[in-house]
Amino acid sequence: MTDILSPSSPEEIRRRLLSVVKSVKGQVQNAESLYVSVDVSKPRPRRGGPAVAEPPDLWRDLNRDVAGCERCMLSKTRKNVVFGDGNRFARLVFVGEAPGADEDEQGLPFVGRAGQLLTNIIRAMGLERKDVYICNILKCRPPGNRNPLPEEIRLCEPYLKRQLSLISPEVICAMGSFAAKTLLKTETPISALRGRFHIYEGIKLMPTYHPAYLLRNPPAKKQVWEDVQLIMKEIGLGAESSQVKEVSP
Ligand code: URA
Repeated sequence: MTDILSPSSPEEIRRRLLSVVKSVKGQVQNAESLYVSVDVSKPRPRRGGPAVAEPPDLWRDLNRDVAGCERCMLSKTRKNVVFGDGNRFARLVFVGEAPGADEDEQGLPFVGRAGQLLTNIIRAMGLERKDVYICNILKCRPPGNRNPLPEEIRLCEPYLKRQLSLISPEVICAMGSFAAKTLLKTETPISALRGRFHIYEGIKLMPTYHPAYLLRNPPAKKQVWEDVQLIMKEIGLGAESSQVKEVSP
């Protein structure tokens, strides 16, 4: 019997080569048709075949865990959990400290005065809130807007970690001392951290001042705008609107 390595004639070589090409073509077509038929957005009805495991819906699970969270005493005083809001595929995530009264009321992050200023900053970058993701270190409001306690941060931070790993943004902007120090695991003051990128779990992180601080200290807007411009450069956004006045409330 002739084996593949010792064909009997040039015609035989041609025939075998053609058959190999045909077979490879067929396999590529099969692979392509498999690829396009997998639609991850819709679970497909099963027709009597063996059970196929649904892909886990990690966002739904996280939402459910946060909504029902009773890990700390803030769950007793909150009106609403403030999970986070925006684009789950965002390249840029803003992380603040904790919900205030307006956020607690509406269940949405940064919707009060500090939120309006953050919205202005986002617009000055040439973006809209729907283009980015906005969340906090704590998901529930500390009564009277007091500072988050270390234990509350310890118990709540795993939710933020899950959120950030699902979004996997290119850049995180940590607003204020609590966000920056918590994510970077440092006691260095925000004034010394801001102005340059740090790394959080392989993601570039820019610490900057919190919008609420800017409401009390408007001159610090200049530094925030410097930090924001570094972010814009990092994610390739034009700086056509680079005016400090445009981030004014
Ligand atoms: N301050 C924060 O840190 N987060 C909010 O959501 C609102 C105000």
